Amino acid sequence: MTGSVLAIDQGTSGTKALVICPERGVIGAAHAPVRPRPLPGGLVEVDPVELYESVVAAGRRALAEASEPVAAVGLANQGETVLAWDRSTGEPLTDALVWQDRRAESVCAELAPHAEELRHLTGLPLDPYFAAPKMAWIRRHLTRDGVVTTSDAWLLHRLTGAYVTDAATAGRTQLLDLERVEWSPRALDVFGLSGERLPEVVDPDTRIGTTSVFGPELPVTGLLVDQQAALLAQRVTEPGAAKCTYGTGAFLLAQTGATPRRGGSGLVSCVAWRLGGRTSYCLDGQVYTAASAVRWLTDLGVISGAADLDPVGGAVPDSGGVTFVPALAGLAAPWWRGDLRGSLTGLGLDTTPGHLVRALCEGIAAQVVELSDAAAADLGAPLTALRADGGLTRSALLMQTQADLLQLPVEVSALPDATALGVGAVARLGLDPALAVDEALPDRTPSAVYEPRISRDEATERLAGFRAAVTALLDRTPA
Ligand code: G3P
Repeated sequence: MTGSVLAIDQGTSGTKALVICPERGVIGAAHAPVRPRPLPGGLVEVDPVELYESVVAAGRRALAEASEPVAAVGLANQGETVLAWDRSTGEPLTDALVWQDRRAESVCAELAPHAEELRHLTGLPLDPYFAAPKMAWIRRHLTRDGVVTTSDAWLLHRLTGAYVTDAATAGRTQLLDLERVEWSPRALDVFGLSGERLPEVVDPDTRIGTTSVFGPELPVTGLLVDQQAALLAQRVTEPGAAKCTYGTGAFLLAQTGATPRRGGSGLVSCVAWRLGGRTSYCLDGQVYTAASAVRWLTDLGVISGAADLDPVGGAVPDSGGVTFVPALAGLAAPWWRGDLRGSLTGLGLDTTPGHLVRALCEGIAAQVVELSDAAAADLGAPLTALRADGGLTRSALLMQTQADLLQLPVEVSALPDATALGVGAVARLGLDPALAVDEALPDRTPSAVYEPRISRDEATERLAGFRAAVTALLDRTPA
């Protein structure tokens, strides 16, 4: 039997910390916001110190709420956010370039002749979303000093002094050899990063060091990139099932087992985790803006926050002919057109906030359908259900819209914080190597199951409207 753990999910818009007791579940919870700065030209930055301070603040508050000791800490991290920092002082040398940041497009354009080779080596298409193009951009334009890494390596160094990253986070860089699960000298060479001192790639349940920032000295025994942590918490451990986490973005991941699946659908093929000496792989598709599109509507004054989605959207029966492609940070899989801007069509004098909210929900859900179809094509079999988690699953309107357009049941996790629960499970595995993965994972009985309420024909018609709007965007902005 292992003790309670402090599980921290350092996400794009904030840090969530949970104290998880093996017998009583979540006994302490706290959230500390983070405010990334969107800048003109598709740039998104955040002060790394704000990330670190949010980890410390949320962790301390969750422990105070639980008011009992924990045995270990686990950290889940946003995937492809990078910075340069000084390894001797731990001080950041640059702001963190958030995963949504598009400034490395110039690097990708230059390396386009290597795109197929990189996809074969790493499983990832050449796109500024991933870490390596941003790392190369930092080296070319900001500094050659220190090390340049994903945010997890920096946070873990601040917490413990170790210099590590987990295999799944490393798999989001485009520098990891997908089959060998080690840094690829060839990929490093292509990006001009051969001389870099990169962190050691470790298993997620590694005891990497100790930290005193939360009070008493605690071992850090879990680290895993956020989407894969949610995949684990949702028990998507066998090929065929998929989960979607509706956070700042929405991310659909489908398990492919012990072999990477390189399909032709445009999804990313990457490491799910390496546990007990076995590597699991997954397919991954991304909707770049989900909660960040809700925040955008909020900042415009259309709604006063995510809690408004259901009452405002529920005031009207449909989107009133409005179609919203919420490509506010471009489109990822299967299109890989991060340069696109969003579109809002079908507006009239009679358009209300409710129509805009419904059109946004349809726009997010329709992208998830594209990802689900792509995963089914690559797996060679349709998905049977979608396991949903993340803050936006609190919107019944979004979840019902998802089930309707997907024509599949959407099983909503009883605990929306699946990411923290996943890394909490990993931290318990790191604490007690005798514990089986299955024993460490939380119960995944859904709190609600949304069944499709519209016919397949109606879903097809609505999806056709969305696809026509995407096609219009693609035609208007040739690659
Ligand atoms: O790939 C980006 C992802 O890791 C960010 O997740 O939860 O901050 O939307 P989230």
